Order: sequence, then structure tokens, then C-alpha cells
Amino acid sequence: MTDAPTTATTTGRTSPIPAAVDELWDHRGDLTTGDSEVLRVVVEALDLLDSGRSRVAWVDPGSDEVVVDERARRAILLSFRLFPMRETAIGPFRQHDRLPLKSAFPGVRLVPGAIARYGCYLAPGTVLMPSFVNIGAHVGAGTLVDTWATVGSCAQVGENVHVSGGAGLGGVLEPAGAVPVVVEDDAFVGSRSIVVEGARVRRGAKLGAGVLLTGTSRVFDAETGQELPRGEAPAWSVCVNATRPRSFPGGEFGMSCLLVIKQLAPGERHDKLLLDSLFREHGSAV
Ligand SMILES: CC(C)(COP(=O)(O)OP(=O)(O)OC[C@H]1O[C@@H](n2cnc3c(N)ncnc32)[C@H](O)[C@@H]1OP(=O)(O)O)[C@@H](O)C(=O)NCCC(=O)NCCS
Repeated sequence: MTDAPTTATTTGRTSPIPAAVDELWDHRGDLTTGDSEVLRVVVEALDLLDSGRSRVAWVDPGSDEVVVDERARRAILLSFRLFPMRETAIGPFRQHDRLPLKSAFPGVRLVPGAIARYGCYLAPGTVLMPSFVNIGAHVGAGTLVDTWATVGSCAQVGENVHVSGGAGLGGVLEPAGAVPVVVEDDAFVGSRSIVVEGARVRRGAKLGAGVLLTGTSRVFDAETGQELPRGEAPAWSVCVNATRPRSFPGGEFGMSCLLVIKQLAPGERHDKLLLDSLFREHGSAV
């Protein structure tokens, strides 16, 4: 078994995750929880994710495509299979799980009730209100994850993002090749919004409260009526949830879609959302 870094399975970029993970993956049916060498390889891989030295996905600056490191995702899936179940307790609360909680939080403000699992990365300056961040997620500096928000497995959240109260960024672990949810720098995800299935919130986009964005959601520009790429909130746009009429054999129904109601200039802030920037700056000065 070699653990020299080699290329990630889906990209030409070198994956920092040890190549030994691929070998384990190929023999995953034969692996047992008691093998300390196998566990060492998986823990080494998850440590890289946990500390931000590696990540499951990123936006390639050249192609502007979301690129996935399948090896990182394999390491996560192997941990679910190989880590032993453990009982833990906090006061009267009991847990029974394979994954431990995250234990290193340099520069992060973590409000009581916030839960972050081992294998997620939280950059310094992140603020977690009582919320949940799952394994493989990557959260950039200055981002605020508000109360009851969830950042699902492998979701990639940029810098200075506000994930508002109760918003849900879906987890994408399987199938192989599936693209995680990506929320880029300076974006705003309104209260109780749902962003799932590899949907992408581009830089500076503001999603109103209650937006539903899936990988195949249709997106329209309210000014021009033009249909835009599916599953994406355009950069520096202000978007709300809307409906579009669709005919079925049984009649005409309103189907959910994303409506771009405004276009901001690059770097422009939205007046209504300024309050949260004060909140975030206050929170991250820890
Ligand atoms: C999307 C948002 C930023 C738009 O604000 P705005 O640019 O000032 O736009 P307006 O409030 O003038 O609304 C424009 C239109 O969209 C409608 N609208 C506003 N927000 C909407 C939403 N979330 N969903 C559906 N429609 C919405 C308004 O009713 C209005 O319709 P009208 O033109 O027919 O009157 C704001 O409404 C919003 O949802 N903010 C998020 C609040 C939030 O989640 N805060 C988090 C705190 S934890």
C-alpha cells in the first residue's frame, strides 16, 4: 500500500488525499473495522479535510467549473463503514455514532448548541450559531451560519456568506460524480431557503427567504423574461422563489422556479441585508 499523493480521480489536479484511499475503496467489501492500518489511512485523509488542507470540491478558476476530488469523498464514505460505533454523552444527552465531533476550532466562534462533525473545515472568522455542519463541508472565513441552518455533507461555502436561520444546504455524498452544493463568496441565503442537489449560488447572489433551488430548478430573469442556466443563482443577483405555469394531462399547475428580481453591480451590497454584515463582523472579532 502506498500513500504517496497522486492525482484525484476526477481532475488533473493533485489530490492531497493519500492514494491508498483508492486502494482501500477498491477492496471496501473486505475491510474490517479492527484494522489499525486501514483506519490510519482514513483518519489521515479526514484530518486533511478537517484542517482545510484538502477539500471535496472547489470552483476551478480557469474553467469556472465545480471540480470534485472523488478520493476525498471516498475517504468519507470509508469512514462511515470503518469507524466503530461509540457511545458518548453530554449531561443527560446520549449519542451513538461512528463519527466524532470536530475538536479543533482555531479562530471560530461556536455558540452553544452548534454542532460540527469531524472532517468539516471551518475557516478562522467563521461564526456558527446553533446549527449543524456535516463532514466534508468547507466553510470560508467570515461566514455566518445562523440558527438552525444546516450545511450538508461536502457543501462548499465561500467567504463572507450569510446562511440565514433555518436555511438548508443539502449534502451530496453519492453517487460518484455528483456535484456538491456550492455557495460562493459574499452570497446570502435567506431564511428557511433550501439549496440542494449540486445547485450553485454564484458570487454575491442574494437568495430571498424561502427560496427552493435544486440542481434542475428553472431560473428566469424577471426583467427580460429570459431563461437562465438551471440550478444556479446568477452572480450578484437578487432572487426569490416564484412559480411558472406548466401544463400536464391533468391540468395546468404552478411549478416552483427561481426568479431574478434585481441585478446588483459586482461588489454591491443589498441595503436590506446590511444589518447582517454588522452582526457578522461583530461575531468574527473573536
Ligand atoms: C429577497 C429580498 C432581499 C428582496 O428585497 P428587495 O430587493 O428590497 O425587494 P422587495 O422587498 O421590494 O420585494 C420585491 C418583490 O418581491 C417580493 N418578495 C420579496 N421577498 C420575497 C421572497 N422571499 N419570496 C417571494 N417574493 C418575495 C415582494 O413581495 C415584492 O413583490 P411586489 O414587487 O409585487 O411588491 C428580501 O425580500 C428577502 O427575502 N430578504 C431575506 C430576509 C431573510 O431571510 N433574512 C434572514 C434573517 S436570519
